[in-house]
Amino acid sequence: MSSASDESAPDTEFDFRAPLRLSRRLTLPCRVVWSPLQGVMTRTLLHAAAQLDLIPCWFTPFFSTGGVSVPKSAAVRRKLAPYRVRPDLPLVFQLIGHDAGSLAATAAVFAQEDCVNGINLNFACPSKTVTASGNGAALLDRPSVVGELTRAVVDAVPGDVSVSVKLRTGKDSAELLPQIVREVCAAGADWIVFHWRTAAEGYCPVNAAERFRRIRLAVETAGTVPVFGNGDVTDRAGAEELVRETGCAGVAVGRGVLSDPWLAKRILSGDRNAPTLEERTAFLRMLASGTDSTRRGRNWFLECVKMTFGPDSQEFREARAGGWDELRARWS
Ligand SMILES: Cc1cc2nc3c(=O)[nH]c(=O)nc-3n(C[C@H](O)[C@H](O)[C@H](O)COP(=O)(O)O)c2cc1C
Repeated sequence: MSSASDESAPDTEFDFRAPLRLSRRLTLPCRVVWSPLQGVMTRTLLHAAAQLDLIPCWFTPFFSTGGVSVPKSAAVRRKLAPYRVRPDLPLVFQLIGHDAGSLAATAAVFAQEDCVNGINLNFACPSKTVTASGNGAALLDRPSVVGELTRAVVDAVPGDVSVSVKLRTGKDSAELLPQIVREVCAAGADWIVFHWRTAAEGYCPVNAAERFRRIRLAVETAGTVPVFGNGDVTDRAGAEELVRETGCAGVAVGRGVLSDPWLAKRILSGDRNAPTLEERTAFLRMLASGTDSTRRGRNWFLECVKMTFGPDSQEFREARAGGWDELRARWS
C-alpha cells in the first residue's frame, strides 16, 4: 500500500477474494465472513442465504456451554443440521462459556464432526443476560482467563481444527486490549474477529479515528495472526476503508446483511451499488415463506423487517401494526 507521502504510487487494491488458510481443516474462501447474529440467523434465514449463494462460509451464533455435561450426539447433530444444506462451505462453530473444562469438552465433541472446520470462542457478547453469568464480554476484564480458556480449547481439539476468538475492545475501556490480544495469540488462536466497540459502548457510535486506532492496535499486537475487523460495515466502500485504515486481514459483516443480503457478494465483486428495493423485498419474501405462524415466528420476521428497513421505516411500522395473515399477505 502507498503511504500518504507517496502519492505517485498507486494504491494496491485489497483482494477480498483471496482465500486464507488458517489450519489444515479451515481455509476461508475469501476475506469476508457473515458475523453471527443469535436469534436472527435462523435456519430459515441461513437457508435463504445459502439458496441465493450469498454467504461465503458458515459462522454460527453462539452455543452456550453453561451446563456440566457435554452435549449428546443427537444434540450436536441437531445443532449442525441447518448448515448441512451447503456442506461445501467451511463451518466455524461458536461456543460461549467461562468454564475451561466445559468449553474444552464441548469443543472436542463438535470438532469430532467432519463438517466442523473451526471453533470460535465468543468473548464479545455484551448482552446483560450473557455477561451476568460471567460469559462473553464479561471475561475481557481478565485477559489471563481469556488466554487460559483459549488454550484449553486449543489443547482439546485435533491440531488441524482452527481455533479462533471473537473479541470486543474491552469491557469498559480499551485499556486491556493489547494484553487480551497477546493472551489469545500466545494460547494458539489462529485468527481473531474483532469488533471495535467496548461492551459498555453497546452499539453506540464511536468516532472513526478511535475505531480505526483500536483495530490497528489489535492488528499490530496480533502480528502474524490474522484479524478480521468488524462493526458497521454496510457497503464495499466501508469494507475498503476498514482494511486500508487498519491493515486487517478481512471483514466480518453482521447487521449489514439484513439491510443488504447481497453485501458479502458486493464486497467481493467490487459492486458499489446500494441494494435495490426489489432485492430487499425478494429476500424478505423468501424469509416470510419459510416462517411459521407462531408468535415466535412472527416476532422473528418483524425483527428482520426492522433490520432490513430500519426501526423508523414505513415498512416496519406497517408490519408491526398488522396481524400475521396481513403480514404474510404483504410479503408473499
Ligand atoms: C441480534 C444480534 C445477535 C448477535 N449474536 C451474536 C453471536 O451469536 N455471536 C457473536 O459473535 N456475535 C453476535 N452478535 C454481534 C455481531 O456478530 C457483530 O459483531 C456486531 O453486530 C457488530 O457488527 P455489525 O455492525 O456488522 O453488525 C450479535 C449482534 C446482534 C445485533
